[in-house]
Amino acid sequence: MIIIAIDGPAAAGKGTLAKRLAKTLKLPYLDTGLLYRATAKRVLESGGDPTDPLAATAAAWELSETDTARKDLRDASTSMAASQVASIPAVREALLAYQRSYGSANGAILDGRDIGTVIFPQADVKLFVTASVEARAKRRQLELDGKGQHLTLAEVIADVAARDEADRTRATAPLIPAEDAILIDTTNLNADEAFAHALAIVKEKA
Ligand code: C5P
Repeated sequence: MIIIAIDGPAAAGKGTLAKRLAKTLKLPYLDTGLLYRATAKRVLESGGDPTDPLAATAAAWELSETDTARKDLRDASTSMAASQVASIPAVREALLAYQRSYGSANGAILDGRDIGTVIFPQADVKLFVTASVEARAKRRQLELDGKGQHLTLAEVIADVAARDEADRTRATAPLIPAEDAILIDTTNLNADEAFAHALAIVKEKA
């Protein structure tokens, strides 16, 4: 049984990398950002405030797979609200057991912000995937373009930078590499190169 933790800032390419590794290694994959996004969406749709601990915590406990399977969780307002609910300790606590149990049965790859530091501190392999804010924003802009959401690069940079700042400076489970995480900077790597690099690390470590 192997646990691979992939953490890093917004739009660093964690998801693409994690999915490819999961397919190659035949492991289940959990995108933990979806849990926070779906929690935020529940709050927004009920007319609540994502910074309200009571509303956000109730939404996190009520979460079901229907919520996380929604296709509309990646727009800018849900992203920012996800970062807001994610700074509430009781929300993180509500989502903890599910993430741990996901990996405990047959091993798994999980990506997020605190997988290597909080969810699976004993993970077999910890990767911290990062890239310059410009590179990350360009990729996110392309992804959004493909979904018919046309934002300027300046708008996407502002969104990504604001989320990074909120995720890095929050008191609970801030975005920070685990001491034993291996850094992968994808600023000058394409998806194939990042994948080859990560696979080599996994093979060496696991
Ligand atoms: O990874 P993604 O960008 O989809 O995550 C959305 C937000 O959820 C992040 O900005 C972060 O605030 C929060 N998150 C978190 N811990 C995780 C995964 C995501 O705090 N493990």
